[in-house]
Amino acid sequence: MYKAKAYSAAGATSPLASTTISRREPTDSDVQIEILFCGICHSDLHQVRNEWSGVMPTVYPCVPGHEIVGRVTKVGPAVTRFKPGDLAAIGCLVDSDGTCPECKAGFEQSCPNFTLTYNFPDKHLGGVTYGGYSDSIVVTERFVLHVPSNLDLAGAAPLLCAGITTYSPMRHWGVTKGKKVGIVGLGGLGHMGVKFAHALGAHTVVFTTSPGKKEDALRLGADEVVISRNADEMAKHAGSFDFILDAVAVEHDINAYINLLGRDGTITLVGAPNQPLPVDVFGLLFRRRSFSGSIIGGLPETQEMLDFCGKNNITADVEVIPIQKVNEAYERLLKSDVKYRFSIDMASLKTA
Ligand SMILES: NC(=O)c1ccc[n+]([C@@H]2O[C@H](COP(=O)([O-])OP(=O)(O)OC[C@H]3O[C@@H](n4cnc5c(N)ncnc54)[C@H](OP(=O)(O)O)[C@@H]3O)[C@@H](O)[C@H]2O)c1
Ligand SMILES: [Zn+2]
Ligand SMILES: [Zn+2]
Repeated sequence: MYKAKAYSAAGATSPLASTTISRREPTDSDVQIEILFCGICHSDLHQVRNEWSGVMPTVYPCVPGHEIVGRVTKVGPAVTRFKPGDLAAIGCLVDSDGTCPECKAGFEQSCPNFTLTYNFPDKHLGGVTYGGYSDSIVVTERFVLHVPSNLDLAGAAPLLCAGITTYSPMRHWGVTKGKKVGIVGLGGLGHMGVKFAHALGAHTVVFTTSPGKKEDALRLGADEVVISRNADEMAKHAGSFDFILDAVAVEHDINAYINLLGRDGTITLVGAPNQPLPVDVFGLLFRRRSFSGSIIGGLPETQEMLDFCGKNNITADVEVIPIQKVNEAYERLLKSDVKYRFSIDMASLKTA
């Protein structure tokens, strides 16, 4: 065991503050990574504030962070894909059984025995896992990903959650040239969704509650922008979408979006509000529409997404912050005031 610097929350209403945590010494198949950047996902905020208490109650102290890029500092003797000095990335998962049908098919995110990067039972040290708001992490090689060398590292970190969470459903539901695709909510996930939908060739429409984001949405790759609080603007798109990705973090009216789907259209929720959302069944019956959800992605697809980003030079638009500004960043997330992902420069932890 060794000590690592980190930022943790002591309770649901406590601000995040500097601390030290224990990490395991790398075992035979482990990779130790010096964390350079970690993105701030809205899930970090949900978890830190125990907003998902019904599904995943928070264990304190909580060290969040699952959008991790860094440099390998040490590897165990059985590690074959990484060596010290390599770039490496970790997303939302740090372990799974590796033997179930889901794992065998590369859907580790559906493994009944997975381990999330933070707030999940730690098989090695007891207690819970600690995430990326830290200067280092030790992860079994199977869950360590390669970062294309051409990508800016601060902007690459958010690919590990916001990137794969939007890429995976778009690939699954066949987003491609000739399809009309909607992205609801221009936050961390939403802005990656726009970049991917555009890169995949779809006609991309952004739905936002923030009129001030219109120009940015177009710059990010949207073909059209709809202010979702304007009923007339919404009505113009009725029955016309093949696919809508909803990345809103709070309760909102999803029926307004279901009505925008065409025949056999699908709306997929990736946002995770802590309250149930009422669905008007008639909206689904008409035009044989589908309502679905999706969670991150498996390891093969996450690497595929990173390679796709390398090839197409796609990274998140980030506001790089020192870790000392993390509490302020959380408050700004709540006001939809992020352009479009906070990425923590972990060098700032040295002076914390
Ligand atoms: N399924 C998964 O695997 C997965 C992975 C990561 C995150 N998540 C979840 O996805 C959600 C979004 O995460 P994020 O990091 O992208 O959050 P974020 O950066 O805070 O973005 C959320 C966006 O939702 C929109 N919004 C906010 N309040 C709204 C309201 N009252 N009505 C309608 N829209 C509103 C805003 O966009 P506009 O200003 O454009 O309206 C805001 O920027 C969170 O719930 C998170 O936990 C799920
Ligand atoms: Zn996330
Ligand atoms: Zn499994």
